[in-house]
Amino acid sequence: MDYRELLEHAKEASKNSYSPYSKFAVGACLITTNDKIYSGCNFENSSFGMTICAERNAVGTAIADGERRIKAIAIYSPNQKHCYPCGACRQVLNEFKAEEGLDVITEGENDIEISKLADLLPEGFNL
Ligand code: THU
Repeated sequence: MDYRELLEHAKEASKNSYSPYSKFAVGACLITTNDKIYSGCNFENSSFGMTICAERNAVGTAIADGERRIKAIAIYSPNQKHCYPCGACRQVLNEFKAEEGLDVITEGENDIEISKLADLLPEGFNL
């Protein structure tokens, strides 16, 4: 599975987004060290703070299936700007990153970017 394909899965996942408040449908697709693929979309709530981002939804699905180590996650958003994970999602991804690190794949109007989670979240919290 190459990163372009992972982005396609993320785009597909965004179609199930429940985002009546922001109207911003996000999709994410991750791959684990066992080469298993999990997708997620954002789902909002009338109590806005309860909103779950696409990335955390995908992580939760992977965890529920027994997976623990994530190699890469692709994120699709409806605008043409790179959609980087929010701070909360960066910390959640940090918990389950692969030993070799975790690639964050985003798409702009004309380019695909591969960022390292360690660069997006330097000094993430660990117990
Ligand atoms: N959102 C995500 O799902 N992932 C991100 O990386 C950024 C924001 C969602 C949360 C909310 O439903 C909507 O996008 C607008 O903030």
